[in-house]
Amino acid sequence: MDMKIRPRRLRTKETLRKMVRETRVDKASLIYPMFVIEGEGIRQEIPSMEGQYRYSVDKMSYELEKLSQAGVSSVMLFGIPSEKDACGSQAYAQDGIVQKALREAKRQFPNLYYITDVCLCEYTSHGHCGLLKGDYVDNDPTVELLAKTAVSHVQAGADMVAPSDMMDGRIMGMRQALDDNGFVETPIMSYAVKYASAFYGPFREAAGSEPSFGDRKSYQMDFHNRKEGLKEAVLDIEEGADIIMVKPALSYLDIIREVADLVDVPVAAYSVSGEYAMVKAAAKMGYIDEARIICEMAVSTFRAGCGIYLTYFAKELANYIDEGRIG
Ligand code: PBG
Repeated sequence: MDMKIRPRRLRTKETLRKMVRETRVDKASLIYPMFVIEGEGIRQEIPSMEGQYRYSVDKMSYELEKLSQAGVSSVMLFGIPSEKDACGSQAYAQDGIVQKALREAKRQFPNLYYITDVCLCEYTSHGHCGLLKGDYVDNDPTVELLAKTAVSHVQAGADMVAPSDMMDGRIMGMRQALDDNGFVETPIMSYAVKYASAFYGPFREAAGSEPSFGDRKSYQMDFHNRKEGLKEAVLDIEEGADIIMVKPALSYLDIIREVADLVDVPVAAYSVSGEYAMVKAAAKMGYIDEARIICEMAVSTFRAGCGIYLTYFAKELANYIDEGRIG
């Protein structure tokens, strides 16, 4: 056969295949989400997320140590308070769970980079992401509380804040509040393109943040929409977001690609709890090869255009990079 072009030529040897790779993966791109809970001596496995735990402040070092050893240097903290009220006051309390965790983690592991999820849903008695007015989440007063939460996190040591509430104008409100308090250099990673998704189910069990009535569709986005996601991304950048996140990851690779092509800031993608739980469950049944699936999911998300990947599999991925399975 007279073929000049034979694509298989570049697939003949492992060294060559690695040479011509189009997507490279790096540990510096990984962020590990971690749950901290009030109390002492707690390292509690999350039933819907096998292998993930809720840690009390005195037990966090167990996980932080393992992350550092694996070479994962960034953590996203989620707090589970012991008391909730209508206005989520533990979210912005000086001695709130995230604030305490930050002070201790920074003292013990000053070289890790600490990002905090800023939202009210884990702290409100009704489980919604803001203040209620009747059955509706009241936007503007919520923004004020979110801004207050962000400032208190940074005062307690957060290196970056990541609002996940989907209120309008919260980036503007938060940037202003951080600047007014002298934190002009603290970046904001916005959960800008966040869909109302059933993939968050296991997280809500982990954090006890399931809404007590209704759903989050009046603030999180409808998964039928694409342009709306681009609009949210652009708006948040105009308001001062430094990094834009798309969430979930796996079913939204098209959105990641479009956002990445459109914006000139780094793009993050969050492989959420439901993605983790599906992999774990299928692997346990022996239906899939867990390690290979984790690698493929991660690389496809980077290939879609994100540069930052939030995943409960961060340690595993770091090990796979060391082993040369991906990279
Ligand atoms: C808080 C928040 C959620 C997640 C991240 N921040 C839950 C939600 O919006 O209901 C989901 C993370 C995951 O599922 O892993 N608003």
